[in-house]
This record gives sequence, C-alpha cells and structure tokens, in this order.
Amino acid sequence: MKTFFHVEDIGDLRLALEEAKEVKDNRFGYQQLGKNKTLLMIFFNNSLRTRLSTQKAAMNLGMNVIVLDVNAGAWKLETERGVIMNGDKSEHLLEAIPVMGCYCDIIAIRSFAGLKNRDYDYAETIVNQFVEYSGKPVVAMETATVHPLQAFADLITIEEHRQTERPKVVLTWAPHCRALPQAVPNSFAEWMNAADVDFVITHPKGYELDPKFTGKAPIEYDQHKALRGADFVYAKNWSCPGVSDKQQYGQILSEDRAWTIDREHMSWTNQGYFMHCLPVRRGLIVSDEVIESDHSLIIPEAANREISAEVVLKRMLETL
Ligand code: CP
Repeated sequence: MKTFFHVEDIGDLRLALEEAKEVKDNRFGYQQLGKNKTLLMIFFNNSLRTRLSTQKAAMNLGMNVIVLDVNAGAWKLETERGVIMNGDKSEHLLEAIPVMGCYCDIIAIRSFAGLKNRDYDYAETIVNQFVEYSGKPVVAMETATVHPLQAFADLITIEEHRQTERPKVVLTWAPHCRALPQAVPNSFAEWMNAADVDFVITHPKGYELDPKFTGKAPIEYDQHKALRGADFVYAKNWSCPGVSDKQQYGQILSEDRAWTIDREHMSWTNQGYFMHCLPVRRGLIVSDEVIESDHSLIIPEAANREISAEVVLKRMLETL
C-alpha cells in the first residue's frame, strides 16, 4: 500500500476486518516488520487520539517514530507557489517535503481544510504534494477532505457490536458553535457505502456532502424518520460542503438544537448505539445522558484507532 486516503486503498473490507481482529488479538506479533523503520508523523493541526493511537500502532510494529508539530518549533512553511517569500515564512513546503522524506520510511500527515476555498481544499493540495515529492508511502491522519483511519476504526467498532447481518447505520448532522470540516462525514460515508450495512444520512437542507463520498446513500431530511430503527447513530457536525453553492462553502447554515442527540432521539432507534469520533462538545452534539450511557461507543471507537493504524502501517511495511 503506497497511500492511505480512501476505502479502495484498503482493498477487500472483509479481509481488512479479519486482519484487524487478528492484529487486535496479537498486536505485538509483527515487531520484526518495523525494526529499523521510521514513521514520521507531521501535524499541521492539533490532535489527541490520532497522535497517540498512530504512535502506539507504530511502536507495536517495532517502528521508530518522529513527531513534528509544524507550528511548534519548525520553520514557518510557505505552501503557495509563485510568492516572494519576504514575510515570516522561512522555508517552502516544496523543499521541506523531500527533506522530510530523507529521514523516514513512511510519512503520516494531518492537514485540515482551511474552509475558505473549496477548490483548494478538495484538490487536497498539501497532502498531494507529500505524495508527489516525498518519495515515501503517505498515510492520511485527517486531511482537508478525508479521515480514513477514523472511518476504519468506526467500521471495526460496528463490526464488533452489530447484532444483525446488515445493521442500519445513520450518519446524523448535529449543531456546533464553530465551522468544522467535512473530512469525518466524507470518510464515514465512503466506508459505510462499501460495508455490509444499510446506510442513511440525515441533515438539514444545504448540508449535502459531496456525492463523490456519499454515492447512492439515501438522504433523509427528517431526522426523526432517519433515526427510526437505527442500530448505530453516528453524530457529527460539519460546515456547508458548498456542493451546490461554492460561496457557502465552510459556512454554518444552522445551529438548530433540535438536532442534538438526546435520550428522546435515541428512543426512536432500535436500542441503537451512539457513536462519535471525538472530540465532542456536550450539549451541542450530544447530551450527557447519551454519551455516558452504556450504549455509547465513543471509547471503543477511540481504542480501535490503534488497530486501524496498525493494520495500515503493517500493510505499508509489508510492501516497502
Ligand atoms: N478523532 C480524532 O481524530 O481525534 P483527534 O483530533 O484528537 O486526533
């Protein structure tokens, strides 16, 4: 595996889930694979789970790990071409990337959407430069448009908790006080479409995700109807994806608290499980009772981040 951005990169999902189970049962069984190999984790944005789980996964595999917080201690990086660099940015990304590639075997990157220019964000301008100029396999640790390590961990969690062959999984928008990217819902939609689940998306009008990720998944604008009979409720906020109107890209179109997942919302489900990628703002996305209930899967999801990262790094190491 040379890149990990999309569900196709992992191949057959059944095999990937079997491998995840095997790795979870024997997470230190592949220490020789990573011996004398180095993972460079580059963060343009903050993280708790991704940082810890990916580093832990690499250590499970016997790898050395270097973590670079681009905004804390490195030279400020220019990312645009054609600029006269007479400001506070001392180094260009186009030099920095091949230099970083010299010191590692695999690169993992976190670089969020700026939410100002849809074309720039959806072209994945930053991470594609890493793919092109680093000469190393690249893992997305949440980019402008995707968060595949999270979606894979979510799928593992659904697999571990499903009671039926084909559970109903609902991705529901929920309100938030800040504009958030679409990377998590994009990847969740992409992975659920490829999985053995009945997948439904619900959100207020105007929040339609890019069809490149949602495919043929039904959109139900009535949240009550969508949640009826759900086995898994995946709550997430996202800002306007700007699919029909680029001018609205990244805007908050609604702060309607009727969409906050509380006990009443969960009563409409099939004794469904609550899911969220974290971090989560209580009172906006979800009520205290729901997130603290025994049907909340937030901690198993976070724990499975170690497993999704280990499977991905293992596969990359196997092809080095
Ligand atoms: N879910 C997730 O990616 O968490 P962090 O932003 O803390 O890494």
